[in-house]
Amino acid sequence: MKIAVLKETDPLETRVSATPETVKKFISLGADMAVETDAGTAAGFSDAQYSEAGATVGDRAATLDGADAIFCVRGPDPDGLSGAKPGARLIGSLNPFGERERVDAYAKAGIEALAMEFMPRITRAQSMDILSSQSNLAGYKAVLDACAEYGRAFPMMMTAAGTVSAARCFVMGVGVAGLQAIATARRLGAQVSATDVRAATKEQIESLGAKPIFVEDVEGIEGEGTGGYATEMSEEYQKAQAELVSSHIAKQDVVITTALIPGKPAPRLISDAQITTMRPGSVIVDLAVEQGGNVEGAVAGEVVEKHGVKIVGHRNVPGRLAADASALFARNLYNFLSAFWDEEAKKPVLPEDDEIVQGVTLTRGGEVVNERLTAN
Ligand code: NAI
Repeated sequence: MKIAVLKETDPLETRVSATPETVKKFISLGADMAVETDAGTAAGFSDAQYSEAGATVGDRAATLDGADAIFCVRGPDPDGLSGAKPGARLIGSLNPFGERERVDAYAKAGIEALAMEFMPRITRAQSMDILSSQSNLAGYKAVLDACAEYGRAFPMMMTAAGTVSAARCFVMGVGVAGLQAIATARRLGAQVSATDVRAATKEQIESLGAKPIFVEDVEGIEGEGTGGYATEMSEEYQKAQAELVSSHIAKQDVVITTALIPGKPAPRLISDAQITTMRPGSVIVDLAVEQGGNVEGAVAGEVVEKHGVKIVGHRNVPGRLAADASALFARNLYNFLSAFWDEEAKKPVLPEDDEIVQGVTLTRGGEVVNERLTAN
């Protein structure tokens, strides 16, 4: 079993899909590890560290040659896989909805593509869940990015020269990223409030010491669909939410938005008119900017200023913490393959009828086989 670890080709991508730690672990399971030159450099892992861990380090062609599995963070251009053997498994964050043409090309090339972001949200798969591991870091970093742009302090400080008041921070969307954003903002001393469409999050917000801001008494408030994800809300709900949010936002210094609906553009939560009601110097961080954005006027990859309010739209926020994000991503891949490892054959055996395997497999035998793609 040979596992190839690609160097990411997207200039935005700083992460790597295996670390010296996971390389060692795979080798102790009996795998051969081949790492492309400079694969980990941007994340702080040198070629020498991979060699010491037991991997061979070489160019793309040598890395791919004879590989049974190919690890990546982002799905590579199919042309960049031309040396891969038919039936090789490509494993990473393949953005199946956004990069549908690539998925078709992988199928055509005989590559078996496995998208780790399609991991089912079940207990058994928690340690393999890249969305959780990366969103958690993104939620933390979003608050630090807000701090860096905010011209005031987060905690209340009583000094001889007078009192500095605590920042008011509002988190919109309380999934994995939002929960970490609440916890981080609280640790920094902000006064934190939060909202979500899923009623179940109310208790979680309270347990982190933040104030829930929720629409009450409107039909369809549950907002929870399959797998614990949000669903699109009724018009009546959206109107009530906009009104509530408007009055609340006007009093906030920092807003972090994280709302996503799987397979759909991110819901619009903050309008330009609402931004005008915020105090100049306030900061909004839009973590959903790459999925269409929660905030009107947010630009992916930029910090823009509108009506005196900074709107932060960094791309690839987990990649801004490349070492930790890579370490967790790499462990997610290790936890996935090692759970299916056949010790005698020294390779993973992925049963086609397993819920996890079915969830993540996009292509097999030259066809696109994933229901979430074929149903569209
Ligand atoms: P996500 O990244 O898909 O969305 C972020 C949050 O935005 C969600 O909480 C969602 O309800 C919220 N949202 C959507 N539309 C909104 C709107 N219009 N206004 C306000 N908020 C809105 O969510 P994430 O972080 O992936 O978590 C989704 C669910 O999966 C959660 O219930 C989480 O607890 C669960 N989960 C389960 C795991 C497991 O069992 N293995 C692992 C990780 C998460």
